[in-house]
Amino acid sequence: PVRPVLPADILARKGGEPLVCLTAYTTPVARLVDAHCDIALVGDSLGMVLHGLPSTLGVTLEMMILHGRAVARGISKAMLVIDMPFGSYEESPAQAFRNASRVLGETGAAAVKLEGGQHMAETIAFLVARGVPVMAHVGLTPQAVNTLGGYKVQGRDADAARVALDAQAVAAAGAFSVVLEKVPDGLARRITADIAIPTIGIGASVDCDGQILVVDDMLGLFTDFRPKFVKRYGELGHAADQAIAAYAADVRARRFPGPEHVFPDTLPKAAK
Ligand code: KIV
Ligand code: NA
Repeated sequence: PVRPVLPADILARKGGEPLVCLTAYTTPVARLVDAHCDIALVGDSLGMVLHGLPSTLGVTLEMMILHGRAVARGISKAMLVIDMPFGSYEESPAQAFRNASRVLGETGAAAVKLEGGQHMAETIAFLVARGVPVMAHVGLTPQAVNTLGGYKVQGRDADAARVALDAQAVAAAGAFSVVLEKVPDGLARRITADIAIPTIGIGASVDCDGQILVVDDMLGLFTDFRPKFVKRYGELGHAADQAIAAYAADVRARRFPGPEHVFPDTLPKAAK
């Protein structure tokens, strides 16, 4: 089999060809992502995108493991990373290791991702020392929506130093890459130049070492809201709406099923 991408390979891509990353939550989408991307992330965004939750706060470890196992079955060459959900790692390094080891052990993922900068550095170092590669996530950290007061840009003006220190702290702690979410363009560029690990931008800068989007956002499948940083590469939600409307009209008009979709009572005799 093809050797999968490993955390060390991602680290080695610092400053090189941009890392291509997307989320995936299911086997069929994982296959599509695997064909084109370096990293498939099972993001806790699945709470909102797949399960209709109002935020990521209600996502459980069991949900992440279930979707992680599904995505693992669709991947042969991209690196699989799985988000640690809210409440599964913040309490202590020991809690984080206990749950991260379940995520890696039960899914076969190569790494976990967790939110937080300076205050998570000790936990990141603890995990890495014990065999758990960590992708960090700073700037807008959606699990902190209630303390941040919404999904706002992080690191403008006097707040820039905090976000830069967060990125430096996770790099020093041993994270092999860091997601920068909703961080102003110039700050994201400066952080990328300053730290030795790849930065993966979402609403950050074209000069990050890689980019990530929520796959359902870029496909136009999840349309409840549309952040500025989402570029729509497809309109699959619209296509699906049209297909379902056509099906409904066909059923109501008895146009479906057609003769080609039903089974004859008697099979035709084989020609002699
Ligand atoms: O949950 C998620 O999908 C994420 C990415 C957007 C980085 O954390
Ligand atoms: Na996430």
